[in-house]
Amino acid sequence: MVSDSFSVNAQNHLTIGGVDTVEIARQYGTPVYVMDEDKIRANAHAFAESMRHCYGGNGLVLFASKAFCCKHMHKICLEEGLGLDVVSGGELYTAQSAGFPMEKICFHGNNKSIAELEMAVSLGVGRIVVDNLTELEHLDYIASSHNTTAAILLRVKPGVEAHTHEFIRTGQIDSKFGFALETGEADAAVRRAASLGHICLKGFHCHIGSQIFDMEPFKEAAKVMLDFMARMQTETGCAFTELNLGGGFGIRYKECDNPPALSDYMEYVSAFLRTYCAQIGLQMPFIYIEPGRSIVADAGLTLYTVGSVKTIPDVRTYVCVDGGMFDNPRYILYQAEYEVVAANHAGDARDQIVTVAGKCCESGDLIQEHTPLQPVQPGDTLAVLCTGAYNYSMASNYNRNPRPPVVMVSGGQSRIVVRGDTYEDLLRFDE
Ligand code: LLP
Repeated sequence: MVSDSFSVNAQNHLTIGGVDTVEIARQYGTPVYVMDEDKIRANAHAFAESMRHCYGGNGLVLFASKAFCCKHMHKICLEEGLGLDVVSGGELYTAQSAGFPMEKICFHGNNKSIAELEMAVSLGVGRIVVDNLTELEHLDYIASSHNTTAAILLRVKPGVEAHTHEFIRTGQIDSKFGFALETGEADAAVRRAASLGHICLKGFHCHIGSQIFDMEPFKEAAKVMLDFMARMQTETGCAFTELNLGGGFGIRYKECDNPPALSDYMEYVSAFLRTYCAQIGLQMPFIYIEPGRSIVADAGLTLYTVGSVKTIPDVRTYVCVDGGMFDNPRYILYQAEYEVVAANHAGDARDQIVTVAGKCCESGDLIQEHTPLQPVQPGDTLAVLCTGAYNYSMASNYNRNPRPPVVMVSGGQSRIVVRGDTYEDLLRFDE
């Protein structure tokens, strides 16, 4: 199967983390997100170990919360020795509620509000990644009014094109994120930061995009950043000691996907950093990386119940499920690809080509088009695989659909870690 979290048992049912998904659907209802906690921990552990191995402890893995944010996930990150990347007051509040140590948090965002900056400074967040000059000035003022200094990184656009969907590409010149290099904007920001009394500029950040399979753009971005660090160090006389290379490591969604192994990526990029630093006479910086998808995506799946099956002769067959773009907006947004399996006869041949449609009042509400699937009928349980990242976190209440619960399995047991919305929840904010 596409992830080693998934298998088929003696009843011909799909399992996740060894637990029967048909049983889970029966117990918790559908739609339901199911995550394999042991797999998440294994992924997190592999990143942490690889960081230790490749950078000799001179680095930290930050889990990008936007991929899957809830208290339980933050607790897992803490236990596995990871820090966090947060991108809003809400993600930061979640981390705080989970008892996460603030010094291991990096706060991102291209338009943080004053209230969010206040919150980050008063909680003592480890690093604030400053995106623009307005934010820099606000932060200096806020830090001075708290009688403190804000430790920051500046987000720089390395001008590297990553080969991925244009909506999830961020490092290129035409991007809303960060300071441009080619216009001198980044240089000016460094000088301004160095002149401010309540700002301590530790180093720089870049992030080139998401779901990237090619290792070259990561290396290219690292080179641009090291050159910039070295030049700024010479020009300002300041020492910059930290470099955050962002996330974006691709995962296997389809059987045919072949992303590089984590160890290959880590060894390739760290070897380059060491060699290049030596070549340009720069002290090797402390390295942060920010994986999101690659820690949670292949540890999750979504279970649905098939409602109607509509065959339009010579056109296509729609398999309609009880979820849709409100629990998984990734197909409608990015034409994201997934493997789909009939969970209650998972070992059978997937010899039909169908379109899996949601229940929202919108023609584009599809979860997958032209996908192979076993023959299914109303009442069957359908599984969409590798939905652990950017599904729960991007869910909405469109058409006033309740968001599904998140169930985690571990050691053969299952439990709810985020309960699903009730109809009452949907009315919570209505006056
Ligand atoms: N660091 C920064 C600054 C980021 O902006 C992101 C993702 C990450 C780390 C984590 O990237 P990852 O390792 O998960 O690729 N909603 C889209 C993905 C948007 C990613 C946004 N930033 C999707 O569903 O594919």
